[in-house]
Amino acid sequence: MNRDAALATPGFGDVFTDHMVTMRWTAEMGWQATEIGPLTPMSFHPATMALHYGQTIFEGMKAFWRPDGQRAVFRPRDHARRFNNSARRMAMPTLPEEDFVTAVETLVRADAAWVPEARGHNLYLRPFMIASQTALGLRPADEYLFMVIATPSRPATMEPKAMRLWAAPEYIRAAPGGTGAAKCGGNYGGSFIVQREAAANNCDEVVWLDARERRYVEEAGGCNLFFVEATATGPRLRTPPLSGTLLAGITRDSILRLADSLGYAISEEPLTLDAWEQGCRAGRITETFACGTARSIVPVGHVVSTRQDWAVGDGVAGPVTSRLRQAMLDIHHGSAPDLHGWMRLVNVGE
Ligand code: PLP
Ligand code: COI
Repeated sequence: MNRDAALATPGFGDVFTDHMVTMRWTAEMGWQATEIGPLTPMSFHPATMALHYGQTIFEGMKAFWRPDGQRAVFRPRDHARRFNNSARRMAMPTLPEEDFVTAVETLVRADAAWVPEARGHNLYLRPFMIASQTALGLRPADEYLFMVIATPSRPATMEPKAMRLWAAPEYIRAAPGGTGAAKCGGNYGGSFIVQREAAANNCDEVVWLDARERRYVEEAGGCNLFFVEATATGPRLRTPPLSGTLLAGITRDSILRLADSLGYAISEEPLTLDAWEQGCRAGRITETFACGTARSIVPVGHVVSTRQDWAVGDGVAGPVTSRLRQAMLDIHHGSAPDLHGWMRLVNVGE
């Protein structure tokens, strides 16, 4: 598929841009120079450590087209910081934040023509790092490969359909002391069995509960969760606290700041699955939405488990969800002022 056809067809993660960035690290030499070249398949020795012990981490971030012809990347420094947190947890080398940001910008500049123009569309950037040493000893590798690749993200419709979430308390994603707050490959591989179960039950995603009591809502697959509570003074946004077992979403943080500036009360407080159901049934919780880089802001319409099945509000996007979604899109595409300094402009020299 050529670029124009790819950009005109809905999809995510199915076609890739023309270039990739690579940077290598060895224990002896540290980080080597950043290289950009054509995107090509790579060959690896069968004993490459990443293939065996899961020392792989990644980020997911977005670049947007701007009406002035430039491109802008959303909160790249914050993604760099989280990438390094993941690296530390996985005993991998950290990358100077400036090098991470430069690598991402280099790819956006080379593949600027791949950044879709339509509102809600974007170029999804995937920085990642793998243990590239050939060895089978059970220890952290002495060689790593950092790369950035990109795929245009083209939603099928402007208004996302409300999600159905599947709660399966017999499975957990992360336990205290584990890797839940890191963006490492194993967290995702370990979730697929439940994602498959969710799909078999006509659900779009899994909602993860805490490992100790299997009662508290933590996050959903690939996204954080927000609950909109009705209070006497107006809507209040509630989200589970960063307990160490869920990912500190950059979108989650952005929504907390945005909600505050839009005048909504906010709270980071745990909520049990049962309290969520009762709150919805009693009208105290009027909306729920999921948020993340890939998914953006998506309403949750139903929650299903083997013993429960309830609708959230009217089962469609509520007013607070829609308002926050539009406010984020306005910032992303430069139609509202970037009051928080989130957009990093990439001069593509057109
Ligand atoms: N939680 C998990 C497990 C994720 O994979 C993601 C996606 O990156 C998120 C939450 C949302 O994080 P962010 O908003 O930084 O994309
Ligand atoms: C993201 O939103 O960036 C994610 O990582 C979710 C998923 C594509 C892994």
